[in-house]
Amino acid sequence: MILNDEFGFKLLKKKILDRTGVDCSKYKDNYLKRRIALRMKAIGVDSSYNEYYRFLEKNPSEYDTLLDGITINVTEFFRDVDTFNAFKNEVIPQLLAEKTKRKSKILRVWSAGCSIGEEPYTIGIILHEKLGPALNDFIISIQATDIDRKALSAAKAGIYDADALKKIDKSRVSKYFDAVDGNDKYRIKDKVKHLVRFQQHDLISGKKFSHFDLIFCRNVMIYFGRELQRTLLLDFYDALNDGGYLIIGRTETMTGEAKDKFVCINTRERIYKKTSKNS
Ligand SMILES: C[S@@+](CC[C@H](N)C(=O)[O-])C[C@H]1O[C@@H](n2cnc3c(N)ncnc32)[C@H](O)[C@@H]1O
Repeated sequence: MILNDEFGFKLLKKKILDRTGVDCSKYKDNYLKRRIALRMKAIGVDSSYNEYYRFLEKNPSEYDTLLDGITINVTEFFRDVDTFNAFKNEVIPQLLAEKTKRKSKILRVWSAGCSIGEEPYTIGIILHEKLGPALNDFIISIQATDIDRKALSAAKAGIYDADALKKIDKSRVSKYFDAVDGNDKYRIKDKVKHLVRFQQHDLISGKKFSHFDLIFCRNVMIYFGRELQRTLLLDFYDALNDGGYLIIGRTETMTGEAKDKFVCINTRERIYKKTSKNS
């Protein structure tokens, strides 16, 4: 297979952009090449990028399959449990104290790259646990976005195999999920579900958001090139209220200009606080 054909690779990226609107050139090249190679191998069209491009043109549904392969949806409830504990015990108390000081009752969270919903629902469960009855004193919204429409429709359904819940302790399962199909599947209860609003959104080319108190963007930037990571971190800075929090993945790093715009409040869990514009 000719994977060092840089010209063919560039051309293929351009075709994907033209046909799907997804700007693959912002992903890491090596990552993208591996994902494309997997698809080419799977369908036995693996002599050149050009041959694969011709296949794509004859079989347009392959564009969707390819994009599925590029946007890996691996996720989990309470993924990196220590991060969510820090969210619960460090971030929420500080956020609530700031809200009280400002006499604000609105709490806006963004789960960027939410996959099939396990991250935003975990956030919802934790807010429920931590705030208890005080939850009703707030207007809480968790905006959950992803580029992948299929993942989003699974997220909206909110139904998961029993296997997906195996790391959640039993008391939490019974409190926040209803068994369906004779215990093989579980549906997230409405008290958490109604906190979350799902929306299709491309972090590369989509509209810019604002006025969030907290952004989770975990295990998404890892697939992106350095330049996009830098731009995205600045977008997150702009999307946050003064003093807002950003939580990135444990293997991801704060980079570029954004380094001076956030203070790290938990190094291990990669939790950052936006410095206010006047500080
Ligand atoms: C590995 S999952 C991470 C899910 C979750 N944040 C977590 O940590 O468990 C990465 C998600 O990023 C999404 N993604 C990839 N490229 C994206 C883009 N350009 N815009 C928005 N989401 C994207 C994928 O569709 C996928 O659902």
